[in-house]
Amino acid sequence: MCGIIGYIGKKRAAPILFDSLKKLEYRGYDSVGMATINGEAEIEIKKGSGRIEAVNEKEDFLTLKGNIGIGHTRWATHGAVEDRNAHPFTSCNGHYALVHNGILENYLELKEDLKKKGHVFTSDTDTEVLVHLIEEEMNNSKEKDLVKVLSKLTQIAKGAYTFLLLDAKNNIIYAFRKDSPIIIGIGEDELFASSDITSFLAYTNKAIILENNQLAILRDNCSIYDIQTGKEVEQEITTIDWTAEQASKSGFPHFMLKEIFEEVEISKHALEQDSLKFNGMIDVLSKAKKVFFLGSGTSYRACLLASIYFAQIAKKHFMPILGSEFKTYQNLIDKDTVIFAISQSGETADVLEGINIAKTKGARVVSLVNVIGSTIMRESDQYLTLNAGPEIAVASTKAFTSQVLILTLLAYGLSDRLKEGREHLYEVVRKLEVIMNQSDTIAILAKDVLNKNDLYLIGRGASYPIAMEGELKIKEIAYIHADALAGGELKHHTLALIEPGVPCIALVPNDDTKDDMINNIMQIKARGGKIIGISSEHLELFDYYISIPKVHLEPLLMIPVLQLISYYLSVIRGNDPDFPRNLAKSVTVL
Ligand code: F6R
Repeated sequence: MCGIIGYIGKKRAAPILFDSLKKLEYRGYDSVGMATINGEAEIEIKKGSGRIEAVNEKEDFLTLKGNIGIGHTRWATHGAVEDRNAHPFTSCNGHYALVHNGILENYLELKEDLKKKGHVFTSDTDTEVLVHLIEEEMNNSKEKDLVKVLSKLTQIAKGAYTFLLLDAKNNIIYAFRKDSPIIIGIGEDELFASSDITSFLAYTNKAIILENNQLAILRDNCSIYDIQTGKEVEQEITTIDWTAEQASKSGFPHFMLKEIFEEVEISKHALEQDSLKFNGMIDVLSKAKKVFFLGSGTSYRACLLASIYFAQIAKKHFMPILGSEFKTYQNLIDKDTVIFAISQSGETADVLEGINIAKTKGARVVSLVNVIGSTIMRESDQYLTLNAGPEIAVASTKAFTSQVLILTLLAYGLSDRLKEGREHLYEVVRKLEVIMNQSDTIAILAKDVLNKNDLYLIGRGASYPIAMEGELKIKEIAYIHADALAGGELKHHTLALIEPGVPCIALVPNDDTKDDMINNIMQIKARGGKIIGISSEHLELFDYYISIPKVHLEPLLMIPVLQLISYYLSVIRGNDPDFPRNLAKSVTVL
């Protein structure tokens, strides 16, 4: 969703902003824009709808002068995808330009009021209202102090409005956090402000993560104010252990493929958890009367799988809930409840909404996130991290694998069998490379057998949520209709759709689901369906076979197989797997 970046330093801003905007592309966007302060203390803007390269062809961003500037990638909410609705927006007096991440809820009412006061608008966005509101309040304020003005403005403006404000009169960038994250990058003689660490990682890995209602004032140095107290606050500089290399394709054609292949390495990091934090988490889970997993999309599939493993391994009933459905269950939440939020980005609005509701009911919140300093991490009483490095492709792959490894280890930890759990999980991790080595075979199978309009996936037990994750990925990036079922459900409905030649991917691990899976496969074959078996054993029933190594937790090895299938299907169909249509990496709206 919307990405923001600001630069102030000794270098020319435009090339740095351009480079950073390209790094923000993965969040999903439809328009792009940039503003800089030129030598004459004037703001110059270039913006338009479309991808950054296309807009740049028309606008030539790099001609923008000056060494202070802000940039934006827009994911449309208020106002159609049109040039005039792209950020930045300027105030009437031309002193300010603003980019925004979030939604200003009462913008229509504020806009009417500002229009009456003579403000002229050029777009349909909520963002433009914000810059005029700031101008109006600054004009009316004696001290002309944004800290004071914002303290009043937050009483008037409702919603989420993290923004960067370029002040051309004073050569300042103001960065304000209201709900969506904003991070200040501290380089040598240069400062950055962005919604995303990866956008400035090539320049610095030293960062200050702003808290809600904090305003950073960036000049030749950075000062931070709490706008509620009006006081300057101490700066806590964090060193981010991600590298710029991790955030690049490193020779792979797509981030998604690179990230699938990275699973071989990052899975080891996932299992190397800080023992104090890990044991602390086991302690909280073991003492809780009720535990609810909370997640969306792929992370929700990790919740489903975790609930199965916690039942099987630790004999615990931990219920998975979709972030967007949390309200439905809110009557079950009380002070004896633990909410276990699972999220790669740590910013998913549906999950955050659930966390906020849970907190008002006195529940404890713990989380498993990838992005350090993310809102979900900061809202949690305790957290663990995936240690997966930046995940750039919109489709989550390495984060999912890390999530399920850590959650499974926790299940073993909870049943006092941590050593055994580690052995089983490291056995899986050691065999991941075998799967990656089969990627060419999987690509051929995707092209020759699976590239159809409809696909079915079946699994039972732990393999069922993995089949669901495969279904999600295939729909998300290959744009093929896919349907995942618990094998036993087939006969209750979907068998009606099985016709001769329909491909069905069957997950057949060597566990107690195998015999039942064979029954389900027979039911499909009797109707002419073609079976693509993923198993450590080549069963005669399979029309096509993808071999996985024999390990104790075989379903986990099926994850990268399905990720590779979806990746190749996407590429074969001419899609860009890194940027699935209509989707964004960090889903910060409800
Ligand atoms: C699918 C995908 C999404 C995310 C979902 C939650 O490949 O990436 O379904 O899993 O938007 O995101 P996080 O994990 O960041 O909370």
